[in-house]
Amino acid sequence: MIGVDLFSGCGGMSLGFQRATIKVVKAYEFWDEAIKCYGENFKHPIEKADLSNYELYLDDISNSNPDVIFGGPPCQDFSHAGNRREGNRADLTKSFAEIVSSVRPQWYVMENVDRSRNSLAYKGAREILKNSGYGITEIVLDASLCGAPQKRKRFFSIGLLDAFDGFLLHDLKKNLSNDPMTVRRFFNGSFDVEYYYRHPRNYNRRAIFSIDEPSPTIRGVNRPVPAGYPGHPNDPIEIVGVRELSTFERALIQTFPDNFIFPSSSKTTNEQLIGNAVPVKLAEYVAKAVMKYNLANVCPKEEDQLIQSL
Ligand SMILES: C[S@@+](CC[C@H](N)C(=O)[O-])C[C@H]1O[C@@H](n2cnc3c(N)ncnc32)[C@H](O)[C@@H]1O
Repeated sequence: MIGVDLFSGCGGMSLGFQRATIKVVKAYEFWDEAIKCYGENFKHPIEKADLSNYELYLDDISNSNPDVIFGGPPCQDFSHAGNRREGNRADLTKSFAEIVSSVRPQWYVMENVDRSRNSLAYKGAREILKNSGYGITEIVLDASLCGAPQKRKRFFSIGLLDAFDGFLLHDLKKNLSNDPMTVRRFFNGSFDVEYYYRHPRNYNRRAIFSIDEPSPTIRGVNRPVPAGYPGHPNDPIEIVGVRELSTFERALIQTFPDNFIFPSSSKTTNEQLIGNAVPVKLAEYVAKAVMKYNLANVCPKEEDQLIQSL
């Protein structure tokens, strides 16, 4: 299958899709730092594009002849962290739907924060996609049940032309682990710390985590331990000697390989790119379900080629 990544960021989703043997041929993104990072790590082109003006890119995207358009439109306007009123960035969800309905690939996969499922923007996007003939599967997946050592819940809307709604639910659920992936297990015991600090949104929540549990969500900002951290009754140990994770460690927890290049000299930029990304393992989990369903039910190009080559 041929894939195109919209709002690609540094490429967490692209990498996961590639690992599921989807041939990603092009990415679109408008943040220079993300474009630079993506360009260092992938051979196919990335184009600088403001997808709020999506009409400008429809021909180019169509020319790639994608079987699947995938991507995670920016999520700050729905996220737990941000202002809950929906703003301009939520409109990019609609841009994603407009692109899909115009290019009409066999498949689309859209990822976002779990809150987005009930947003007005997604409802509008869903209507566009339904009117274009997509059967839609909607699911919130926890990355720690999909092979990543991180409790990160993300909403996926997955569409297939002429399918029935919910067509992929069974396949997506059947391979979920019953046992959340811990940091220790994922790194086979070779992780530098036993406990680490993750700055809480407020001090009603604990801030110290053990590697014997999945990491909490890796966010786009990584604050050091503040002087005078008051502690929390649920912290598993005292703060003395406990540090925040490094940028590199956070990339590894997002399941980027250790040779993935973050070329910026700015720690803030790299943290943002890493925190924005879909964990590679989570993207791979979803893309594998898509690939398998495609091979079994959609009579794909690959199978045609296979038959011809016999
Ligand atoms: C949630 S991140 C995507 C992360 C990516 N899927 C990954 O796995 O690494 C959303 C991306 O959309 C980009 N973006 C925001 N507004 C955009 C726009 N108008 N046009 C294109 N890209 C935009 C941001 O720069 C950001 O990198």
